[in-house]
Amino acid sequence: MNKNIKSVLYTLALILTWARSCCSKCSTTTPRSKPGFVGMFGFGDSTIDNGNNNFIKSEIKSDYLPYGIDYPLSPFLTRRFTNGESPADRVGALLELSSLPTFTDPLTKGSRVLNGVNFASGGSGILDSTGSKKGVISLNQQINNFVKVTIPMLKTQQKCEGTNLVGQYLFLISTGSNDFLYTFFKGGYHIGTLQYFSDNLTSLLATQLTKLYDAGARKFAFINIGPFGCTPMVRATMPNKECNETMNYAPFYFNTQLLVMLNSIKPRMPGFQFMVVNFFQIALEFVRYPSRGGFEDVINSCCEVSQASDGSLCKKGVNNLCTPRRTHLFFDGLHPTEDLYSILAAKAYNSTDPTEVSPFNLHTFSQI
Ligand SMILES: *[C@@H]1O[C@H](CO)[C@@H](O)[C@H](O)[C@H]1NC(C)=O
Ligand SMILES: *[C@@H]1O[C@H](CO)[C@@H](O)[C@H](O)[C@H]1NC(C)=O
Ligand SMILES: *[C@@H]1O[C@H](CO)[C@@H](O)[C@H](O)[C@H]1NC(C)=O
Repeated sequence: MNKNIKSVLYTLALILTWARSCCSKCSTTTPRSKPGFVGMFGFGDSTIDNGNNNFIKSEIKSDYLPYGIDYPLSPFLTRRFTNGESPADRVGALLELSSLPTFTDPLTKGSRVLNGVNFASGGSGILDSTGSKKGVISLNQQINNFVKVTIPMLKTQQKCEGTNLVGQYLFLISTGSNDFLYTFFKGGYHIGTLQYFSDNLTSLLATQLTKLYDAGARKFAFINIGPFGCTPMVRATMPNKECNETMNYAPFYFNTQLLVMLNSIKPRMPGFQFMVVNFFQIALEFVRYPSRGGFEDVINSCCEVSQASDGSLCKKGVNNLCTPRRTHLFFDGLHPTEDLYSILAAKAYNSTDPTEVSPFNLHTFSQI
């Protein structure tokens, strides 16, 4: 983009930020002039991590090419676990929100937190133990960071006594797959069945959501767990590169119970609202019918993966990528290409199919 246009856009964004934060949202009596979310906070794993692991001593990073190679602002902002934008970026854009700063970035303070913050950390799960040996930020720690660091900053900035500012933001959450992939299926959890493990995850998540609710959060959007039994990493362990259906049952079961849990906690939390986008269903449709999403290869990763990451992440600096990237469903051994993420975000925003969004889409959510 032209430098002048960029600086004009930046100034406009600043004015908008100022206008939003200045007066209109502060009054308890005047209704908001325009429906929608004030901003967004992101929690969870690599699906939406926008660089948190890159500022800390974590072993799970995406700060090297080919990650981010198609990222629109700069290919050197290789901060997402895909070739371009994450579903959080896309959902934010559809909701006309500014792109989120990264929590662990030292620059994320003061007025920069007004539009929201992304706390997500690749490799993390619902359990504190998932990813702990790799130095990732657990969901509990992400929530603590929000409550102890970001909320006080927000309050200083907004100076709105008596209003629930936090309740006007969207809380986007994408978590759980690493608990299965790296704890349950790695034998890190010996006692009990899959159902038992999964139910424990959902009840822990309920506790974590209650903490956010107690801090003022009201509007939650969830990206449920994808069919990880069909990822290139898992297919590589199968005799004919087929999906591992035993593994796919885990996200299927968890996702079903997630909805049950959300509906069951709603009555005891006045004002609590949620929507879930069915990543599982949306991705599985393309696994079965690639052409419906314009995909040609739904089996192999687009980049060459590293054995050090058990086939999950791209090798550093590889340039023999698939062309064009959008022919592939998966960018690395575990993460979709931005093309799948883009479809996911559009459906989250727009779909009216109850098997894809439940109970409504983000557009509807933003109007209520
Ligand atoms: C379920 O989670 C709780 C809380 O973290 C933990 O103490 C308990 O051991 C877990 N249950 C099982 C069966 O592992
Ligand atoms: C599928 O995954 C499960 C869990 O990791 C494993 O026990 C099973 O052997 C796998 N199935 C096949 C056919 O390899
Ligand atoms: C939403 O749906 C309308 C009508 O089906 C379509 O024109 C529009 O492009 C969609 N928007 C997105 C972001 O997919």
